[in-house]
Parts: sequence; structure tokens; C-alpha cells
Amino acid sequence: MTKIKLQHVSKQYTKESDKVIHDFNLDIDDKEFIVFVGPSGCGKSTTLRMIAGLESITGGELWMDDQLVNHVPSKDRDIAMVFQNYALFPHLTVFDNIAFGLKIRKVKKAIIKEKVEQTAGILGLTPYLKRKPKDLSGGQKQRVALGRAVVRDANIFLMDEPLSNLDAKLRVQMREEIIRLHKTLGTTTIYVTHDQTEAMTMATRIVVLKDGHIQQIGTPTEIYKNPNNMFVASFIGAPAMNFIHAKVVNNQLMTSEGKEIAPLARPIDHQGKVILGIRPESVVLATENDGLAMDVEFVEMMGADLHVHGKLEQSKIIIRLNPDVMVKENDRIYLRFPHEKIHLFDPNNEESLYQSEGMTAWVD
Ligand SMILES: Nc1ncnc2c1ncn2[C@@H]1O[C@H](COP(=O)(O)OP(=O)(O)OP(=O)(O)O)[C@@H](O)[C@H]1O
Ligand SMILES: [Mg+2]
Repeated sequence: MTKIKLQHVSKQYTKESDKVIHDFNLDIDDKEFIVFVGPSGCGKSTTLRMIAGLESITGGELWMDDQLVNHVPSKDRDIAMVFQNYALFPHLTVFDNIAFGLKIRKVKKAIIKEKVEQTAGILGLTPYLKRKPKDLSGGQKQRVALGRAVVRDANIFLMDEPLSNLDAKLRVQMREEIIRLHKTLGTTTIYVTHDQTEAMTMATRIVVLKDGHIQQIGTPTEIYKNPNNMFVASFIGAPAMNFIHAKVVNNQLMTSEGKEIAPLARPIDHQGKVILGIRPESVVLATENDGLAMDVEFVEMMGADLHVHGKLEQSKIIIRLNPDVMVKENDRIYLRFPHEKIHLFDPNNEESLYQSEGMTAWVD
């Protein structure tokens, strides 16, 4: 049982430097799989390392269950950490790499053997126990690194981009293994990545970070359907949400050039310029009579779907279509934006003004 609470946590590496984490607040429940996601330098590793006790906390409080742990040394925090570069001992066998943490804790030999074998079984490493890391594939190495965390029976797993050294196919496979491992062990996990697909597929809740500020916390569905601002909207989802210059006139949504887009399902407290957000898969093909013109610049055949790139008035746009649709470069096609899929953002502060996906979210 481990709950983690961060209250107004901040980080400043030196007195002279700027804060890199600002007012970080998060309540993590037992057994959650939390993913910190955001671009390079946004503070994911710094926050994880503060939770691990590898980095001091310069402001705020960190609680684990009912204990304030700001000043508790890392070794006393009941955590196990997995890093991007595996951090294996090259001269030790797989068995000894997994056993290492137990050995230094003076666990009895027979128990070590039992635990290492059990862990190897869970992670499919049984055939490799006698090998050295150099004779393993990247995925196998990362499994050994996971094994070292699993064998410790720690209450919290902290993982910093553990899959980013693996090729695309192996990443998908290891992602599934980590999800399965979490289902089996139920260990509270915080996982850092800059890969939105990992965040979407693995997390019970996602924390989106930018420049050391939390942008949004929510389940993958909440974050995808109801992004708080344009940053979250564009960071989560691939291809990213389209942003189109538009305006609201008497509760009617129009393009910059004055073409009607859709009536709004409810009034908004904003007139004039807005940024319309719509996901590539939400756009529907229409006819010249009832659609907005899009000039196709190029088409990418993805197999399961077709990504059509082009321009709608002055805004770049990508739409996802069924691969059987015949669309090619230089075509003019017509689009409709279903009103229940429309997002509107304030062009000045980029905050959400209106969300219509997941309608229940704002039913009074
Ligand atoms: N030891 C350090 N001393 C001073 N500044 C640091 C130190 N480590 C990180 N920083 C700064 O803190 C900020 C956050 O860095 P951090 O490593 O947490 O980012 P990140 O989100 O993990 O990025 P990445 O995706 O590239 O790993 C960056 O501006 C970075 O330059
Ligand atoms: Mg990092």
C-alpha cells in the first residue's frame, strides 16, 4: 500500500538559477500507473528524481503514505528505479544482476535464489540467467533492469524513459510487458516518457508538463477528449489536433474568411477570433454545398488509414480518412466538422474556451 502526495513541490538547482519545477501538486493513489509526459527539458526526470530521493526538494512537501519524506534518504524510501540506459553490471551474469540489490541487503542465499528465479519467470528471463549483459538483446537487457526492480518487492516503481533505447517494435512489446507486470504486481508506478503513445496506452492517469508547470492531470480519455489548452491538445494525439483560425459571431462559428462552420451547441462567453481545434479523425467528408474547401497538398498511405495534408484557407490541416477513399495531390475536397467534435481555444492565452467532445463533462 503506497500513496504518494506532492504538495506545492518546486525545484531550483542553484540559488542563482531559475526554478525548473513550479508548484507541483499531485495525489497518487495506491496501485496507480502515473505517466509524466512532456517535451525535453520540461522537468519530468527532475520530479521523478525528487520522488526517488536522488535530488533534493527545494520547496513543498513529498509524502509517502503518512510520512513526510523530504529528508528521508533514497535507500529508505521503498522505491525501485528503472533507467533508460539499463545500468546493468557488465561483469555480472543476469542472475547476479537481478540478485544484486538483495545481496547488498544481506538476504539469505536460498531466498535470493527463489526470488530471482521467480522474477526471471515473470519476465521470461529463465533461459538467460547465466549470460552476461553483452550477450543479450536490448529488450532482454531492459527486462533484466526491470527484474532488478521487481525482485526487491518495493512498494513504488519509478521508471525514467525505460524503453527509449529500444527499436519501435520492441518498444511496443516491452510496453505490453510493463502493463502486464503492473496488472500482476499492482505496484504504484510513476513512469516518465516524452512519447504520447506510451502515455496514452500505459497510464491510469497522465500528468502533462511544460516548462516545469503541470498543464493537466487526467485519465488518457479525459486528456484526449477535454484538453485544457492548445499545448495539451497538440501534444497528446498523433497526428496532432488541427488548429484553424476562426471566429465566433452571434454564437455562430465561422472561418476567418466568413464561411459557416457549425452552430455551437451552447453559447460561449467569447466573440471574435478563436482557434478551432479538431482532431484529424473527427473530420468528415462533405460536398461543395455543405462543406469547407480543403486543397490537398499530399497524401500519406498509412495502411489502416490515409493521412491527407493540405490547407483550409490559411490554416494547415491533416485529416485521417478511410484508405479506400480516392484522394490525391492537388485535389480540392470538402469537409464538415461535426459540432460535437469541436474545440475552441482563446488565441491570446491558448486556454480552452469550449469543448464539445465528451458532452457529459459539462452537463450542468
Ligand atoms: N543537475 C542539474 N543542474 C542544473 N539544471 C538542471 C540539472 N538537471 C536538469 N536541469 C535543468 O532542469 C530542467 C528540467 O530537466 P529534466 O532533466 O528534469 O527534464 P526532462 O523533462 O527529464 O527532459 P528529457 O526529456 O530531455 O529527459 C532543464 O531545464 C534542465 O536543463
Ligand atoms: Mg529526462
